[in-house]
Amino acid sequence: MSEIAKLEVGGKVYEFPIYTGTEDESAIDISKLRGVTEGVITIDRGYKNTGSCLSEITFLEGEKGILRYRGYSIEELAEKADFLEVAFLLIFGELPTQEQLDKFNSDIKKNSVVDDDIKKIIDAFPKSAHPMGVLSSLTSALTAFNPGAVDIDSEEDMYNSVVGILGKFPVLVAWTMRKKQGLPLDYGKKSLGYIENLLKMMFKQPNEKYIQNPIIVNALDKLLILHADHEQNCSTSTVRIVGSSHAGLFASLSAGISALWGPLHGGANQAVLEMLEGIKKDGGDTNKYMAKAKDKNDPFRLMGFGHRVYKNFDPRAKIIKKAADEVLGNLGVKDPVLDIAEGLESQALADDYFVARKLYPNVDFYSGIIYRAMGIPTDMFTVMFALGRLPGWIAQWKEMRLNNEPIGRPRQIYTGESLREFVPVEKR
Ligand code: CMC
Repeated sequence: MSEIAKLEVGGKVYEFPIYTGTEDESAIDISKLRGVTEGVITIDRGYKNTGSCLSEITFLEGEKGILRYRGYSIEELAEKADFLEVAFLLIFGELPTQEQLDKFNSDIKKNSVVDDDIKKIIDAFPKSAHPMGVLSSLTSALTAFNPGAVDIDSEEDMYNSVVGILGKFPVLVAWTMRKKQGLPLDYGKKSLGYIENLLKMMFKQPNEKYIQNPIIVNALDKLLILHADHEQNCSTSTVRIVGSSHAGLFASLSAGISALWGPLHGGANQAVLEMLEGIKKDGGDTNKYMAKAKDKNDPFRLMGFGHRVYKNFDPRAKIIKKAADEVLGNLGVKDPVLDIAEGLESQALADDYFVARKLYPNVDFYSGIIYRAMGIPTDMFTVMFALGRLPGWIAQWKEMRLNNEPIGRPRQIYTGESLREFVPVEKR
């Protein structure tokens, strides 16, 4: 491809350089467009054609269903790595040596105590509060207990902030769930691994020992890896844009959690299960819901289908489907919504509407079924997604700050009224 793009505006031709990425992706650099054309900007609603940054973290090729973190394929990472190794890889750029991993693990453990006053904040929420709202508030509240800003020029300070949030976040996740269930808030055990400790904090009953199930530990580890980063999605872009004003790490993460909450993004995992339950209650007629999804006068969408970037199978969905079969099989769970999900999937994959629009199952289509088999309540599904996405958000925030990205501030085309005279209230 040529290294220059030419654009004609009002009879004048302007030239813009073209960036080429490692995998031959191309982008026209229009950063000088407004200056040279004296006022012309681009409009790209939903940023469908806009690259917001250059990034070395995650490569995604939607047409081919490829996802890689720092060059490693998601399939290989899900099979061979554990979540903390992947977190280290995303945040620091390379897979850790055993020594680095042991230190990372132990530093995270050292940081896994939150200020006891956090409990007072949790107490103030009604039980009806959605866990995503609670998690976002608690993450933001961490700023109050750790007021110093991260010194981005200090590697040590950056490292301490990373292990700080990775240590505290699982506590907030577990406590958010337990509070809603009226259970005492538990700190887990320092000797346990990251995932085992999370499960203990979430599920230990006050009057009995918590027994780990390796199948659940392994499946959760895999799920978190699959969710760990996904380049410039809605929540990650939110974290970057909030951080670009030099707001702190916790404030930026809290904003990312709010963005993830929506049903078109991370909230889809909750929406999928509610949809499957709804279909089951309504007699299990998947044809009826397929017709609704295709009817342009009906707002119903097949949740867990379609993706802004993947126009092929979401590679994460393939791994999750396999994991769902294994977990349900191993735990001996027969979940009728799995049959409905499989029915919808096979119908959609053979349906002209879905085929023409390249709508395939996404990461959220089967994850809820696994979470449910693990005993995680439906309204906690997106919280689990947030826990998985945490390393990605941190890595992207860190990269954005270290690259000295300018404050994110898009422009607009104004389509409102032209200048008009104020009319006093009695004359309107
Ligand atoms: N069911 C029915 N029709 C759909 C669906 C769906 N799930 N998704 C897209 N379409 C149709 C849409 O109506 C449009 O049709 P037409 O061209 O006739 O107007 C066409 O497909 C393109 O859709 P779009 O809304 O322009 O695509 P988008 O890139 O803006 O939206 C999406 C992507 C994920 C928001 C959308 O596919 C969707 O709403 N899916 C359901 C929610 C969901 O599962 N979200 C989780 C995404 S994966 C987790 C994450 O990383 O966030």
